[in-house]
Amino acid sequence: MRQNSTAAPSVATIRGDFPILQRQINGRPLAYLDNAATTQKPRAVIDALVNFYERHNANTHSGVHTLSEEATALYEEARARAARFLNAPSPRCIVFTQGTTAAINLVAQGWARHHLRQGDEIVLTVMEHHSNLLPWLGVARETGAVLRYLEIDGEGRLTATGREGGGIEGAVSRATRLVAVTHVSNVLGTINPVKELARQARAVGACVVVDAAQSAPHLSLDVQALDCDFLAFSSHKVYGPTGIGVLYGKEEYLAAMEPPASGGGMVLRVERHSYEWMEPPWRFEAGTPNIAGAVAMGAALDYLDGFDREMLRRHEIELTGYALKVLGKRADLTLHGPADPAGRAGVIPFSVGGVHPHDVVEVLDGQGVAVRGGHHCCQPLMEHLGERGVVRVSLALYNERQDIDQLAHGLDRVAAIFRNDR
Ligand SMILES: Cc1ncc(COP(=O)(O)O)c(C=O)c1O
Repeated sequence: MRQNSTAAPSVATIRGDFPILQRQINGRPLAYLDNAATTQKPRAVIDALVNFYERHNANTHSGVHTLSEEATALYEEARARAARFLNAPSPRCIVFTQGTTAAINLVAQGWARHHLRQGDEIVLTVMEHHSNLLPWLGVARETGAVLRYLEIDGEGRLTATGREGGGIEGAVSRATRLVAVTHVSNVLGTINPVKELARQARAVGACVVVDAAQSAPHLSLDVQALDCDFLAFSSHKVYGPTGIGVLYGKEEYLAAMEPPASGGGMVLRVERHSYEWMEPPWRFEAGTPNIAGAVAMGAALDYLDGFDREMLRRHEIELTGYALKVLGKRADLTLHGPADPAGRAGVIPFSVGGVHPHDVVEVLDGQGVAVRGGHHCCQPLMEHLGERGVVRVSLALYNERQDIDQLAHGLDRVAAIFRNDR
């Protein structure tokens, strides 16, 4: 339900907010099912970008003239908006970054490489995106820390025991200093029990980093309830512009971090042979930030939070169930991930027997259907699944049954084209 309205908007009304959904692709209506890669932008976000550049554009924090003060106020309002989105205790916990990748690298470079030692354990999962894996491989190489992976069962659910549905009791050990885990898998859609992982990590004094790139669009986030130390998400996956995102950090963690990048905008005082940093979060935002991006991200968060998030989630579970039913009937497909639609966040990966994922994607594109195929920056997961790549369908709030029907029709075409090749 939108704020100030009494009834839940129909999907048709929501679709009207997104100009790009009017497009035809290869002569067909666009069925955009690549939302885990990036979401489309509502008019409110596009207008916020244009409005900033038309009316308020100036650099932040340095000027005292009117436009600079307006730009600074809008940028700092966006920080407060992001704090509300995450239920962070203060805007001072919000660092603007280029996105999730930059945010996780900031934790790796600014905190982990200064606090981890030889033999310390970093706990990850086998389903991590490369953005939440490579920074830790780098930290391990630099510090002598070791990586340990939580495995998944046959339905793509985390298991510390290795047993089917075995749960995550015992996920950390006394040597664990850092737990870095994705909240939602970008390939399987699995929703991971990060709150329980954080509880276990807390008991051994380990730091908890949550990659929320894929959960932010689908689940209401509450960093205080999760009790994580850091959490990262990208604006472009929550209907905002590219090139901007957020690192949430507990104040005590941000205070203990060194800024890996330095330059203008992050120092109080510079002398020839010394300098004094600003307080967090500004300490971590060297150089001119993506001001318009932050402001438009604020508009995206307003847009998303303007709905009843539980209503959106119910719609998503219903549509996921429909897609699983439609795709599950096809003998030529192998589906991956949790069987229960409520166990995943609108992501449905599959492989088509004997057909390369890129070929599937190309044929579907010819039918106006946008999906993604490949390893999805999750090569260790692909190895675990025994796949060279998979095709991924990923949903957003504007998707409807018709998109799934168009996908099914496109898959008939894939079957017809490749039948003779197998
Ligand atoms: C789970 C996950 N983590 C991290 C990222 C990286 O996000 P970005 O490219 O916006 O930095 C992605 C992007 O797809 C993702 O799905």
